[in-house]
Amino acid sequence: MELFLDTADAQAVKELSETLTIAGVTTNPTIITRSGKTLERVIDEMCKTLAPNQKSFFQVIATDFDGILEETRRICALRENAYAKIPVTPVGLKAIKAAKAEGLNVLATAIYSADQAFLAAMNGADYLAPYVNRMCNYGDGVGQVADLVNMLATNGLPSKICAASFKNTEQVHDMICVGAQSVTVAPDIVWTMVKHPGTGIAVEEFSAAWENSFGRNTMFK
Ligand code: E4P
Repeated sequence: MELFLDTADAQAVKELSETLTIAGVTTNPTIITRSGKTLERVIDEMCKTLAPNQKSFFQVIATDFDGILEETRRICALRENAYAKIPVTPVGLKAIKAAKAEGLNVLATAIYSADQAFLAAMNGADYLAPYVNRMCNYGDGVGQVADLVNMLATNGLPSKICAASFKNTEQVHDMICVGAQSVTVAPDIVWTMVKHPGTGIAVEEFSAAWENSFGRNTMFK
């Protein structure tokens, strides 16, 4: 399982990478524009923050074949372990096929059905990003991803699912349960997964008992 952070906030990436095993960062045009930073600044901060083995995913903006392919080449040249996110429009699927023929790293994005994801996998996409929360607005998003896990395994396709678009921790939990190989999650949702109020209360109880008995807050004198 790979856990990616869906964010343009390099500081959040740094803090969570110190706390958890983070495989890399995904962004999309909305995340970057909402950050209030330029694309150049986001790229620069991420390149400085990520370790060489952590992956980065930037999404193409062009919507024509040549433009998508050129942006894919430039995104993949940014650093080691750089991937281009290409939406699975008809022209996007054509660009995914061409990009993989060139050996470029590709994540197929804006996926709303298992069938779309499967077709992108047949074109060689390295990662497939079903938009789980958005899919749930149209039907059984979790079931679609469960189907996709089986479809890839049955057909021996090596593409990894990178489940995306989460609004709560339960959706992330469901993706891990159905066997998605990776998830990309906003930092605030990851922190919600980390911090359970019960754990804090339990630690406070242990500390209080220890201090009452031994008069100190460390194990050894
Ligand atoms: C992944 O990188 C996707 O772009 C992202 O998770 C979409 O999330 P949203 O549905 O919250 O926009």
